[in-house]
Amino acid sequence: MIALSELLIEEMRTEDLNEIIEIEEASFPTPWPKRMFELELKSTRSFCRVARVSSVIVGYIVAWMIYDEAHILNIAVHPDFRRMGIGEMVLRDCLDNFFSLGARTALLEVRRGNDEAKRLYEKLGFKSVGIRRGYYADTGEDAVVMKLRL
Ligand code: ACO
Repeated sequence: MIALSELLIEEMRTEDLNEIIEIEEASFPTPWPKRMFELELKSTRSFCRVARVSSVIVGYIVAWMIYDEAHILNIAVHPDFRRMGIGEMVLRDCLDNFFSLGARTALLEVRRGNDEAKRLYEKLGFKSVGIRRGYYADTGEDAVVMKLRL
């Protein structure tokens, strides 16, 4: 068990990507390739941060701000560090930053069967506002669209 006081949330860097890809591949049926993270790191609208404990990356988030909307694209925590509050801290840090930049709503899509993630979002106040049928090409699973008023 780690103490959350040991957790640092910092900007994502290119040299973090090998560690991030390992977490990504352990977390998603169709992981983002490294190139996708590289593009996000170059984009001015992207918010890319990592959570570290003693220099080891344990989680990350990628999000966009479009006008006054925050779009959460990708969040994951290393399987060995889940259920310790890291996902919640990373997401709150992102939402707080976007709020201070003027975002007033946050939006995301999540697989209908991803109960862990849906519970995290509900804990922070997100509500389901729609379904995109067959949204995920790999499994044909529906996406639940969730929204939070910041
Ligand atoms: N069972 C039930 N509730 C859960 C679970 C679980 N396994 N995991 C998280 N929660 C909920 C709980 O409400 C929890 O609060 P509580 O501990 O007070 O009950 C809350 O989420 C916060 O939990 P954290 O410990 O902060 O969550 P964690 O660090 O484990 O990260 C995450 C959650 C990111 C969803 C993790 O399970 C993960 O990496 N999953 C694989 C990748 C993934 O599915 N990412 C989201 C895809 S959608 C998108 O990216 C937009």
